[in-house]
Amino acid sequence: MKKMKLIITKNYEEMSSTAADLVIKQIRWKNASVIGLATGSSPLGMYRCLSREWKSGHISLSEIHGYNLDEYQGLSKSDPQSFYYYLKTNLVDVTDFKEQNLHVLDGMREDIDSVCADYEKDIRASGGLDLQLLGLGETGHIGFNEPDTSFPRYTHQVKLEEKTIMANARFFASPEQVPHAALTMGIGTIMSARKILLIVSGLPKAKMLYQVLLGEVRPSVPASILQFHPDVTIIADEDASHVVREKTGFGGTTYEL
Ligand code: F6R
Repeated sequence: MKKMKLIITKNYEEMSSTAADLVIKQIRWKNASVIGLATGSSPLGMYRCLSREWKSGHISLSEIHGYNLDEYQGLSKSDPQSFYYYLKTNLVDVTDFKEQNLHVLDGMREDIDSVCADYEKDIRASGGLDLQLLGLGETGHIGFNEPDTSFPRYTHQVKLEEKTIMANARFFASPEQVPHAALTMGIGTIMSARKILLIVSGLPKAKMLYQVLLGEVRPSVPASILQFHPDVTIIADEDASHVVREKTGFGGTTYEL
């Protein structure tokens, strides 16, 4: 099993371009890669880099199949706060990524169990995830897998933690508008990806990143499970890696953990 690779970048911009380079490498290696797509602030810059590279004619995303990591419940595809809308505007509309290749969890359907089971089947039928993109929640969540007493295996419904609702309120007109439930790939779904790329930016995530990378693997820190994945790259900016650097004495830019 390979060690986890940690790349430390100066800032958000360098984190984003380094992450985009890894995604481009994956696409060049396999045009029709199946990629698990994260949303939120962390990957925004990376999607911008991918769009720029496409506009300059350096890459094509037309063969990629994307699977949305998670989705709020009760928001329609046309709701600007839905993750579908995010990926439509930040990926589909600004590259040649085909909308029909964007697979999403439908947060409007009431037959949640079939939505989740079908998603797992679809991912498997497409050959499995080649690459899973992830951001890190301040609670230690990946996708919307919040701290728990066990690691949820498959795609499922979750109730969001108060801290997550408050963290995501910045995207809504008021905290009351943030949905309290969501659908998310399970930890097992994420861990089934052949490669994982976690990107982390900003001081508020620094303590959590330390626990994730160097703490005990436990379901109360969901992202700590990544320590058991055979091929993980973490790209963290100086702020987010502040505690890791302080506690380990790391002074360079690339490490194996
Ligand atoms: C988004 C997702 C979440 C975010 C995490 C960090 O699809 O699943 O796990 O990656 O909440 O969010 P940001 O990047 O906004 O800090």
